[in-house]
Amino acid sequence: MKVQPSQKMSLFAPAIFGDLKQFALDQQAKGMELIDLSLGSPDIPPADFLRETMSELTKLETSYGYTLTGVQTFNEAVCRYYKRVNSVTLDPSTEVVQTIGSQEGLVHLPVAFCDPGDIVLTTNPAYVAYDAGIHLAGATPYYMPLTKENGYLPDLAAVPEHIAQKAKLLILNLPGNPVPAMPSIAYFEEVVAFAKKYNIIVLHDAAYSEFYFKGDAPISFLATPGAKEVGLEINSLSKSFSLAGTRIAYIVGNAEMVSILKQLKSNLDFGIFEPIQLVAAKALDNAENITANLRQTFAARHKTLMDGLTSISWEVAPSDGGMFVWAKFPYSIDSKSFAFEAIAQTGVVMVPGTAFGTAGEGYMRLALVQDVETLSRAVEKLSKINIKKEATV
Ligand SMILES: Cc1ncc(COP(=O)(O)O)c(C=O)c1O
Repeated sequence: MKVQPSQKMSLFAPAIFGDLKQFALDQQAKGMELIDLSLGSPDIPPADFLRETMSELTKLETSYGYTLTGVQTFNEAVCRYYKRVNSVTLDPSTEVVQTIGSQEGLVHLPVAFCDPGDIVLTTNPAYVAYDAGIHLAGATPYYMPLTKENGYLPDLAAVPEHIAQKAKLLILNLPGNPVPAMPSIAYFEEVVAFAKKYNIIVLHDAAYSEFYFKGDAPISFLATPGAKEVGLEINSLSKSFSLAGTRIAYIVGNAEMVSILKQLKSNLDFGIFEPIQLVAAKALDNAENITANLRQTFAARHKTLMDGLTSISWEVAPSDGGMFVWAKFPYSIDSKSFAFEAIAQTGVVMVPGTAFGTAGEGYMRLALVQDVETLSRAVEKLSKINIKKEATV
């Protein structure tokens, strides 16, 4: 049989992660020690009491039915968490929708709001799921560059008038992946005004909201006056609570938008395994203890890698949060080739900036998923790399 993929499949090119991993494994087989800083998969296990609860709940005969739109206990815990941590009041029945990890929510959300021809404002570079969702909906991305000059924040004033008029959705991610820029109330106020002016739905991806290393927590988009009129925030238990494999996240905000998302999801899936929802609720109710430990660990890693790379002449994007370091390397070679060369010479596995968009050329993304000693060793290895040192391409 001749299998012919749809034309749309041309928009879903295989990601580079698989190739990098295979190349790294090949080097390991030849005796190279690998230090994997490629994926943002948490290396810290979930708290003991969460694993114990999961174990108990899975023994119950009653745990195995469809949960459809989810159990109210989880939605209520999300609202309590938002109230305590972000001072945002939410209605658990109308302003919360669960998603199977935020990846699922991000990829499906544009389908609920965008038609072919609509424009979605997103960034370059950006987390890869945004483009997947935009393409699935048949919408067209308009990329706002993240540059050193604009503090790695999308410059809304630079979006041409005719693009803003056609835009239906704006996707933001602060602290971001791959660029860990932080949000501010002033910036979010600008976003709300822009969204109201052009009637654009805002989706703020807050996956790294608990990863901050100085001062106050990054502000929630929904804490901005008027934000609930124009948009939504998506957050996940994956990173902040080390529950990535359980696949649980949520979208909160505008009730009318949440209702449309629930309608879409009722056609796509039948809910998340009940023990996962109940464990996630417990995690949210105990968030302050769990995330304080996480921050302590990640702050030390963040400092080690930021200082280490700076000391070997890499130019790191300044940041006080996030799970990644975004850094420009001092060699005259393109990002993709450099990623493979770095593995071959040092065993350090990083993701080339171009995996997240053309503006990532010259940059690498390094995930803070190894302990401080290993990160120091990674810097030491990278300092010995042997490539012609010139201005980057
Ligand atoms: C910015 C951002 N959003 C969403 C996700 C997806 O996370 P999950 O589907 O595990 O919630 C990731 C994963 O790396 C991410 O970096």
